[in-house]
Amino acid sequence: MTNLPIYPLTDEHKMIRDAARDFAQKEIAPIAAEFDESGDFPYATIKKMGDLGFMGIEIPETYGGSGMDALAYVLALEEICKVDASHGVIMSVNSSLYCHGILKFGTEDQKKKFVMPIASGKAIGAYSLTEPQSGSDAGSMKSRATRDGDSYVLNGRKSWVTSGPVADYFVVFMMTDPEKKQKGVSAFIVDGKSKGLTRGKKEPKLGIRASATSELIFEDCRVPAENRIGEEGEGFKIAMTVLDAGRIGIAAQALGIAEAAYEAARQYAGQREAFGQPIGAFQGTGFKIADMKTRIEASRLLIYNAAIAKEQSKQSGGRYSLEASMAKLFASETSMYVAHQAVQIHGGMGYSRELPVERYFRDAKITEIYEGTSEIQRLVISRSELGIK
Ligand code: CAA
Repeated sequence: MTNLPIYPLTDEHKMIRDAARDFAQKEIAPIAAEFDESGDFPYATIKKMGDLGFMGIEIPETYGGSGMDALAYVLALEEICKVDASHGVIMSVNSSLYCHGILKFGTEDQKKKFVMPIASGKAIGAYSLTEPQSGSDAGSMKSRATRDGDSYVLNGRKSWVTSGPVADYFVVFMMTDPEKKQKGVSAFIVDGKSKGLTRGKKEPKLGIRASATSELIFEDCRVPAENRIGEEGEGFKIAMTVLDAGRIGIAAQALGIAEAAYEAARQYAGQREAFGQPIGAFQGTGFKIADMKTRIEASRLLIYNAAIAKEQSKQSGGRYSLEASMAKLFASETSMYVAHQAVQIHGGMGYSRELPVERYFRDAKITEIYEGTSEIQRLVISRSELGIK
């Protein structure tokens, strides 16, 4: 075995990666299977992650974060997800989907009031774009925000909100001018305790079961106008910009799951014997190991590249949609492929709840779906390459 990755990490990168690895092994590994089984939200470990600065790695210290770069965030997220993808997505939504949009488009007051508690891990943030009838076609949302004096009145139903049942604050997208379609969407910060906001039933899920997901129901929910992010009509652009950041996080999550599944399969292939030799000595298994490892390392390069592109965009203001979509597409499909092969290499034991391999298989699937399906990533990449709008 070589010591991949051969990648120029700074001492700070290595420090945060090792700290996340250590935390995940000591604090999350012992409880991951139990919380997957119960579907309970892991409040205690998420609180500890907040205390250690993992909930706002990339957020400037002025706003309660750890002030590190995009690559540091990806490295830490990967380590958390090697152990448990549920903790990983809570961290990712908090940092990328919630904080990122307010940081990039919000006012100074909004950053102080609504990023500080979330980045420092004292509260949990979530992002709410999808509706029962609009997932991939996000611009066709039906929910309405109507201006009334110094506030907006929000009505509608949002679905598939990660951390929906537990979040303290939400970034919510609603139509302020439906005739303008995507250009009629606006973004708001909503306090989870607002009157007129109800959390729907918690979704029973195949994987990432310790991450809580629900609908949000808005019935005449009044939000101060000062909680609008950016101008009226800028919401769709904000939602898409934020998803570019989020997709790198999901790619890192996918990579972490794939690495865990791969390592389990590699060890099993060396130990388990059949027909008088370790199963890894059969080319049928050995070639699977080769493909798994190669795809994992290719994913890593795409993800680290996307993280560097994101970091550069903080200076240039440019977009990194292509890099983010390629990283998410390749890493999520790799994760599903690797987890599938890991179950197969384990045979019956791969299907058993006694080992975590079946959990990796169930957790990997969502990375091909949320924050833009693989089909949407292909759409973004092909439109970008062909110059099609
Ligand atoms: N950054 C900045 N602006 C962007 C952008 C981006 N990445 N992508 C699009 N825009 C802008 C465009 O430039 C355009 O503006 P102009 O007209 O001024 O040029 C405007 O937005 C509309 O763009 P499109 O015409 O491309 O819009 P579209 O309706 O065709 O949609 C899409 C494009 C890529 C399909 C988009 O709808 C999309 O990404 N869909 C998937 C949504 C998604 O990922 N949902 C997951 C939600 S979160 C979740 O999963 C739950 C969770 O809690 C984790």
